[in-house]
Amino acid sequence: MAATAATETEAVETVVVAAPHPWDVTVPEIYAENRWQPIFREMRQKAPINKVTGSAFGDYWNITTHKPIQHVEALPEIYSSASSRGGITIYDNADTLPEELRRETPSFIAMDRPEHTAQRRTVAPAFTPAEMERLSGDIRKRTGALLDSLPRGESFDWVDTVSIELTTGMLAILFDFPWEDRRKLTLWSDWISDIDYLDDLDRAYERREHLRAMTACFSDLWDQRVGKDEAPDLLSRMIHSEAMADMDRYTFIGNLTLLIVGGNDTTRNSMSAYAYGLERFAGERRRLEDDPELIPNAVQELIRWQTPLAHMRRTAVEDHELFGHNIRAGDAVVLWYISANRDESVFDRPDDIIVDRENARRHLAFGYGIHRCVGARLAELQLRILLEEMAARRLRPNVIGEPQRVSSCFVHGYRSMQVELSEY
Ligand code: HEM
Repeated sequence: MAATAATETEAVETVVVAAPHPWDVTVPEIYAENRWQPIFREMRQKAPINKVTGSAFGDYWNITTHKPIQHVEALPEIYSSASSRGGITIYDNADTLPEELRRETPSFIAMDRPEHTAQRRTVAPAFTPAEMERLSGDIRKRTGALLDSLPRGESFDWVDTVSIELTTGMLAILFDFPWEDRRKLTLWSDWISDIDYLDDLDRAYERREHLRAMTACFSDLWDQRVGKDEAPDLLSRMIHSEAMADMDRYTFIGNLTLLIVGGNDTTRNSMSAYAYGLERFAGERRRLEDDPELIPNAVQELIRWQTPLAHMRRTAVEDHELFGHNIRAGDAVVLWYISANRDESVFDRPDDIIVDRENARRHLAFGYGIHRCVGARLAELQLRILLEEMAARRLRPNVIGEPQRVSSCFVHGYRSMQVELSEY
């Protein structure tokens, strides 16, 4: 340990480590190489709340266990999500870019109350149980058609062919987006989530071009619906809703952008986790194949085990004591869901997939509190339908070799994964 420092109150001794240090878990390689597990385990055991100084993203707090993460998320007045304070990820150094490249459309995930409440209200009605019921027929039909088209007896990339395709289709159904253009949603979302542009000016300009194309397209979607009667698709409903009455085109585009980004990598990586995770826990796969009734619980368990977003970040707006640690106004507080979901005081044998795990639903992969994922039901629905349709065909994805993983401390997932289907 590089250094330790006592808090002012002496209530708890805060462990402070100076990067480079194994506890600087913003280093992307530990995820690309899938060796993050023992690092977080050690933190949970020795210092579940600790501070890292001098990382590539400056100083920040690691919050690694279940309880304090819920605690922080339950105090949005103290722990802000606002982009003006640093936003929701640890990558807050966009100020290295020229001003013209820094302007991003605002979205409510990176807002605090009261703006957050007002804007979330405009999209929340699209994710009610009744809406999920309405969308499920189309999602099931598309999912089944894709599974029937998959190659047999030869290997293919599960990530691109299944996870990306189904996620993109799900978003296109949600938006009533032109089906033949659906891959644009993936392209735009990938560009928005790309953080390499921060150190590469050419890339930053290329990214801006894609964002402009997206804005123009979403703006057209607005024009096509705004003067017409309300239709059942999400966009039309948003435009005609009371909550949206005072909202301008710009905010509408910001919210659409948030929905494609929020739904894209996350759902994709939970579907890839189904193939990869059950390959690693073949006994559990067999139990699931023998008893499809376990599918709804297995969906929760796979999302817990994968944790498609490794962290969310908050910024303290005032000095505050967090379980005896002195957090200062302006401090970046990183909530490691990926670690909370492996918290051994909550989950028995946390590194294992257990398809009938009794408390799988307690996972924090969707966050907690006022920002808890608004699309959680849709993601669960898509994953459940995938598992059900695979079961209906008695299909199993056999993963060949190790997948290639995303190199990021934010999106936790897979770039590519070769599989071959078999029937059981
Ligand atoms: C397995 C899939 C998914 C995971 C793991 C996931 C995870 C998350 C997490 C961790 C948050 C932040 C929670 C917090 O700060 O407390 C979030 C927020 C959000 N998610 Fe998801 N998400 C998923 C799918 C989706 C889908 C399918 C959509 C929409 C199509 C979506 C849209 C959003 C939006 C709009 C927010 C912002 C909510 C707010 O700030 O009030 N997500 N999600």
